Amino acid sequence: MTELKSKKFNISGPRDPTLHYMLPAVPRLQGVRDLIKSGLFFVIHALRQSGKTTSVKAYADHLNEEGGCHAMYHSLETIRGVADVSETMDAIVRGFIVSLKISNVEDLENIADSVWNELKETCYYSSFPVLTCLSALCGRLDKELVLFFDDVDALEGETFIQFFSQLRVGYVERSFSPFPLSIAIVGVRDIKARLIEKSPDSGISSASGLLNMLAKSLRLQDFTPADIASLYAQHAKATG
Ligand SMILES: Nc1ncnc2c1ncn2[C@@H]1O[C@H](COP(=O)(O)OP(=O)(O)OP(=O)(O)O)[C@@H](O)[C@H]1O
Ligand SMILES: [Mg+2]
Repeated sequence: MTELKSKKFNISGPRDPTLHYMLPAVPRLQGVRDLIKSGLFFVIHALRQSGKTTSVKAYADHLNEEGGCHAMYHSLETIRGVADVSETMDAIVRGFIVSLKISNVEDLENIADSVWNELKETCYYSSFPVLTCLSALCGRLDKELVLFFDDVDALEGETFIQFFSQLRVGYVERSFSPFPLSIAIVGVRDIKARLIEKSPDSGISSASGLLNMLAKSLRLQDFTPADIASLYAQHAKATG
């Protein structure tokens, strides 16, 4: 049994502190607390396999443990390859409801069904599914919501525009309509840089509005030799 419970090094995806040797993930996201406290939307980006998912999941858990707000993680990975725009938007919302149900946050899990039932009835759903969903969710919460949208690189073309435009409307109207306090957009590419590259004639005429919504781009720093040494030291200490 002791053998089964011993920790391992993991290189096959997000880390679990109960199973794997790991470096503290929350301190890797320096600057995030101030952005959340200021109620801002922002970008977290870094190369593949640099610990984005591990860090933002740990950060969401950390915020929920502190209890000042609700925090939720949702990956857009599952929509990769879906071509039709409305199908993709619908898939995002359906996936989001599943993430609510398995969020491990009682208040969020409890309202997942009622949010979904409201969405099925509202006429706005078919035109603005993401906006309607986030507004219906936040309208039911007694605390502010902080959202981490991971794997946003899965959004392409018209789907990219639709998704961010709906976030933008929610962001602009949030003084009178419920919406998340803060949203982190997480992925490999820096979405702010991607928006700057788009000219109006390439299809994003509202790029500057979307850019204004995203207050900052944070790049998750690479692991350093000192980090690696500290990771190996955990193994040396545990095994002698
Ligand atoms: N806090 C950590 N301590 C030690 N190793 C870590 C930590 N976070 C990530 N890693 C290492 O990086 C690998 C990738 O982690 P993770 O899946 O979180 O990265 P990612 O940037 O989200 O990857 P992808 O770009 O593929 O989505 C893990 O398998 C692990 O080897
Ligand atoms: Mg990831």
